[in-house]
Amino acid sequence: MAKKPSETSVIEYDQVGGADVLQARTRPLRAPEPGEVTVEVIVAGISHIDGFIRTGQEPDWAAEPFPRASGSDFAGVVVDSADPRFPRGTEVVGHVRSGAHATYLTVSADALVKKPKHVTWETAGGLYLAGVTALDTLDALHIAEGDTIVISAAAGAVGSIEAQLARYRGAKVIGTCGERNFDYLRQLGITPIQYGPGMTERIQAAAPRGVTAFIDNFGQDGHELARELGVPASRYRSSDDRRELELKLLRSDPETVQHATRQLAALVDLADKQAFSLLISGFYPLGDVALAYADLDKLHSRGKVVLATHPVSTFRYLKARDVADARN
Ligand SMILES: NC(=O)c1ccc[n+]([C@@H]2O[C@H](COP(=O)([O-])OP(=O)(O)OC[C@H]3O[C@@H](n4cnc5c(N)ncnc54)[C@H](OP(=O)(O)O)[C@@H]3O)[C@@H](O)[C@H]2O)c1
Repeated sequence: MAKKPSETSVIEYDQVGGADVLQARTRPLRAPEPGEVTVEVIVAGISHIDGFIRTGQEPDWAAEPFPRASGSDFAGVVVDSADPRFPRGTEVVGHVRSGAHATYLTVSADALVKKPKHVTWETAGGLYLAGVTALDTLDALHIAEGDTIVISAAAGAVGSIEAQLARYRGAKVIGTCGERNFDYLRQLGITPIQYGPGMTERIQAAAPRGVTAFIDNFGQDGHELARELGVPASRYRSSDDRRELELKLLRSDPETVQHATRQLAALVDLADKQAFSLLISGFYPLGDVALAYADLDKLHSRGKVVLATHPVSTFRYLKARDVADARN
């Protein structure tokens, strides 16, 4: 087997700011202590919350010392282990408060789940924060057969997982999106509704028997829309609720880690059963992390934007999505 690594290339920043503050640095890699493993990262996800934290919009993180590392979702291979549950060579999906944007990281084995063979690296690496946010939200709202749920930004990372899992639970799902995503949502059995003026009437026409739950991912006119649709407060989740949930999922206390890993395991199992699929909207080499955030910040991802530590080539291709959009 390959030599154990002693160094890692990690994305860090020394001050709050835009993605241009991110820098790739080589750092010594600590060996795992009992209950820990070292993972060679294959794919890591990026999310809006990483950006909110980096730009100083999250008071919870104000006291976090610099340099700070970024990223919380990853999938990779165990290359050094001090935990019998995950011997060397085990393929894993994991989560960490920060530091997933790296070639190697040493983490608690309590934050890992085994990666099934049929879940792709790209999906596995982008699963944690978007997926657990989606699952926690559906669980909190007790979404089940008989529900008619509206999900905003239903083609995005969190929305696409929520929408597919709500369908899997037997709910009727109405998803807001731009016209370019209508076919994508229809393929998944979700009724697409164009966001923007007239949205309430369009939703009412699509749900003549009424709407029973509403998840606002995008966060503009959610409260007003939920009220107009007659959704009870207990079955509405705002974009602010989502933000709080995501920040909570980044805490490193044992209770949070245990909950997060349990939900990640449930998600990985659902992905393995093909209860949902996570499209990869952007796939960037780790060193192009700033470009990956610029892509995410356009707010038109279909699924997830992820970083790869072993891209076949660092040559960048124009994405099919951009080619198609340029025609319109
Ligand atoms: N308040 C918060 O705490 C919080 C936290 C995280 C994320 N967010 C926001 O929630 C959104 C979705 O999150 P995500 O992680 O799933 O991000 P994402 O993957 O970047 O979501 C992108 C999706 O948003 C859709 N979208 C763009 N403009 C929209 C609009 N005016 N109304 C409804 N949907 C719109 C896009 O659909 P089309 O391409 O079809 O237009 C795209 O599929 C993001 O815009 C993000 O900024 C809010």
